[in-house]
Amino acid sequence: MRYTTAPLIPESMSVVGFGCWPLSGPGVWTAYDETEAIASVRRAVDLGVNFFDVAPVYGLGHAERVLGKALAERRDAVLIASKFGLVWDEQDRVTNNGTGSSIRTEVEASLRRLNTDHIDVYQMHWPDPAVDIDETMAAVLDLQAKGTIRYIGLSNFSLAEMRRAAQSGAIATFQGLYNLLEHDPRAYHGIPLEYRSRSEVLPFVVEHGMAFLPYSPLFQGLLTDSYDSATLESSDVRNANPKLTGNAADLYAAAAADLRHLGSEIGRPLAQVAINWLAAQEGMGPVIAGCYTVDQVVRNSAAGEWELASDELAAIDGVLEHHSSVLS
Ligand SMILES: NC(=O)c1ccc[n+]([C@@H]2O[C@H](COP(=O)([O-])OP(=O)(O)OC[C@H]3O[C@@H](n4cnc5c(N)ncnc54)[C@H](OP(=O)(O)O)[C@@H]3O)[C@@H](O)[C@H]2O)c1
Repeated sequence: MRYTTAPLIPESMSVVGFGCWPLSGPGVWTAYDETEAIASVRRAVDLGVNFFDVAPVYGLGHAERVLGKALAERRDAVLIASKFGLVWDEQDRVTNNGTGSSIRTEVEASLRRLNTDHIDVYQMHWPDPAVDIDETMAAVLDLQAKGTIRYIGLSNFSLAEMRRAAQSGAIATFQGLYNLLEHDPRAYHGIPLEYRSRSEVLPFVVEHGMAFLPYSPLFQGLLTDSYDSATLESSDVRNANPKLTGNAADLYAAAAADLRHLGSEIGRPLAQVAINWLAAQEGMGPVIAGCYTVDQVVRNSAAGEWELASDELAAIDGVLEHHSSVLS
């Protein structure tokens, strides 16, 4: 496994991270199995993966509980990045909440579920337009001063909102949608995005010594060798991604097919090419590939054993140029 650091996060982070949304439990992704999910986390640690991205809202507490159980006595070997700012009520309706009192309640619940006394990276999942960011930052800075959290991160913030937050304290990570076919995406699952990952946020991240955490690095499975939309369960969250199911789905699928073909010419699986294309970029932190089977963990972790050569990166650029109409 290769490791990376960032000026604001000096400890080694594995180039291949583990995205824990697929640990949400049954009925969110396809074919979830708890025993397999736990084995996946443990195998990942065995293979040198030390960065796990999770959120309370993934399975409404389920993913954090599974991660906490799976890590158990391996907790000190890894960094846990969790999130805050999305809460749910008795009817499981999810809303934004960036108030100080909600954050203090949320962090305690996350610590219990994760079975730990600290969270390494604590990220605001989505901005809360109803709450002044100064109040939110005051709450997380207080948690940082107490050692409950170690680094502060933001996700899905506009650059202007991130600059504003950074006036209160250091922001160590930014998490945003970024993969081979979504460079500066304007929407995620139909939700407008107020940031441009590649052209706007990455330069900011590099300038400020942060780490960029690219979410959906495999385009929710499209950028792999085995994606088949026909096999998704009806409840699978990907059915709600218009880029996988809507009018443009065929264009994205065609671009993925050409990248898959290039991967076979290079002699590498597309998932590893997709991970290493991201990892090759300045400012990139762990590529938090989502997975929930041991087989996927083994395949994705192998990306940490090799790097794309410059002629391979150029060949990828050629394919992307050919499909520039779908790139957003
Ligand atoms: N901050 C945010 O708002 C936000 C939003 C989204 C995600 N995230 C984070 O980013 C992480 C990654 O994003 P994501 O999980 O949405 O999507 P992703 O990493 O792009 O894709 C994950 C899916 O790809 C498939 N897959 C993974 N490895 C594979 C392999 N080697 N071969 C074949 N299929 C493979 C699996 O699904 P199947 O096997 O079922 O096809 C897996 O669930 C999440 O887990 C979460 O931690 C954050």
